[in-house]
Amino acid sequence: MKNIRFSLQTKFLLSIILIVIPTLGVIFTWAGIQNEKQAMEQIMNQARILSKQIILTRQWIADCGGVMVSARSEGARDINCFFDDSMETSRGLFKRFTPSMVTKKLSQYATQQDLYRFRLASLTPLNPENKADHFEKDSLIKFTNEGLIEAFKFDIHGKNHHLHYIVPLYLEKACLECHHARGVSQGGIRGGLSIVLPINEMQVAVKNNWMKLAVSGVVLICLVTITLLFMMRRMVITPLKAYKR
Ligand code: HEC
Repeated sequence: MKNIRFSLQTKFLLSIILIVIPTLGVIFTWAGIQNEKQAMEQIMNQARILSKQIILTRQWIADCGGVMVSARSEGARDINCFFDDSMETSRGLFKRFTPSMVTKKLSQYATQQDLYRFRLASLTPLNPENKADHFEKDSLIKFTNEGLIEAFKFDIHGKNHHLHYIVPLYLEKACLECHHARGVSQGGIRGGLSIVLPINEMQVAVKNNWMKLAVSGVVLICLVTITLLFMMRRMVITPLKAYKR
């Protein structure tokens, strides 16, 4: 009698484990992967919105033919004027800031506040500082040859994880005032806006989510197994035992 009960129970336990663990395992892994994908998509969207905002700012400055900035002001510090274009006014000396100079200043401000950094990159730069790095160069070539409108890669430097994101910058009418003689016509790609976003916080959130899913997965597997086993005992094994008797 004892033998039957044990073997039935063991068989049932094994069946439960064989069904419950893979099923819940697949469901929880799928949930984890979806969450990771969503987090990546969210960070990509942040990069997209940021690049749109910077491009809009640059467009406005280009439409103005540059903006005049007080040479003595805090905002004019730590930046080289590629074309020295100054104007003496009753309020002192003002310098013309090009879209590229404003882009650089904005990036300096963002970096000081530990947010992100960005820069212009080109295969044929006026300013050698803007020479594209390896990833930027590959992306710019793809933008021209394959018509892509964005490129990205996830980077790790030591403990720091980053998203490197780049979009093409097209020459508009307002850009031609300064960028006329470099072989790129209106509508052509003059370079790229390259953004580096830190994603450590996102990585930690994704990791924590995996941990939570793993713990709740194990707890759920135990609960389901115990409940099914208990039900099996009540509904099958005990009546069977009574019947055999
Ligand atoms: C008022 C003049 C001016 C206007 C308008 C202007 N740029 Fe520039 N741009 C410059 C100068 C000068 C540099 C290089 C100097 C630097 O980086 O400090 C530059 C640099 C760049 C670079 C980086 C590569 C390089 O050649 O060094 C890109 C890309 C670029 N501009 C794209 C554009 C686009 C696109 C527009 C139109 C939306 C535009 N620029 C409008 C003056 C201008």
